[in-house]
Amino acid sequence: MRHILDSAVARRNFIASLGGAAAVALMSHEARADALEGALNAGVSPNMKDSQSCTPEGNHHYPTVAEIEAEVPTRSYRRCVGGLLLNTKGNVKQLAKMPARPTLWDFFELRFMGSRNHCFQSANKALHNGVDEEIVLACLLHDTVQELVHTDHGFWGAQMYEPYVPAQTAFAIRYHAALRFYPDAQAGYCYPDEYREMFGIDYEPPPHIVQSYKYARAHRWYGAARAVTVNDLYSFNPNSMVNLDPFKDIVGRHFKQPEEGLGNDNSPSAHYWRTLANPDLPL
Ligand SMILES: [Fe+2]
Ligand SMILES: [Fe+2]
Repeated sequence: MRHILDSAVARRNFIASLGGAAAVALMSHEARADALEGALNAGVSPNMKDSQSCTPEGNHHYPTVAEIEAEVPTRSYRRCVGGLLLNTKGNVKQLAKMPARPTLWDFFELRFMGSRNHCFQSANKALHNGVDEEIVLACLLHDTVQELVHTDHGFWGAQMYEPYVPAQTAFAIRYHAALRFYPDAQAGYCYPDEYREMFGIDYEPPPHIVQSYKYARAHRWYGAARAVTVNDLYSFNPNSMVNLDPFKDIVGRHFKQPEEGLGNDNSPSAHYWRTLANPDLPL
């Protein structure tokens, strides 16, 4: 969900929108990441290129892992908590009630407010790049579970969608998160600057991510998961709206919408949907 400001121009515009370099210097790394995410979700980051920078920006200070760890006790929450569940700038809002038999589009409309713009943009890019429909679907869904949980979101997301989507789509959702840490120049994917900011310049992925990468790299569906990372970029034009009609057709063809409604169908991940539908229940 959180992504890079790809170009120096975009980064300068973003910094200017926050009050200039001096104001940004006073912000914590977390506050900067929040501001970046807010700007990207609002589609207000102009002049962004449709590609990543492959090397860190020369004069930009990236935090170290130790610096990021030192910020933990300055927060009242853990960074894993999902976007729907936490508002770091104030109180959460009253949520609209879900229909009795909610569909995937009901969740996009009423619960995925923080993740949908990014997912629409990614799926739109994939569509224009001519990738397979099952992979466009993976792009459309790939970060929506971050409404519930950020950490290990590839695994959480794959489990949430596995009962409803083709196996290749679930594979692409599961492994895109690990592949984000590993460049593939041939596929056109570089290590994101944003990860240097979020994880620390000296970050080493944990063993399960290394293992996941190795497994996916050798798998026949590697290209599907890699395609999610390649299209997992921002190319916002704030004046253009994504046309959802093609995605509605793709969802209609490949997403097994349960008749009882998501959450009411006793699938292995029905509780994910119920929690998204009713996140204010105390137990
Ligand atoms: Fe993403
Ligand atoms: Fe992701």
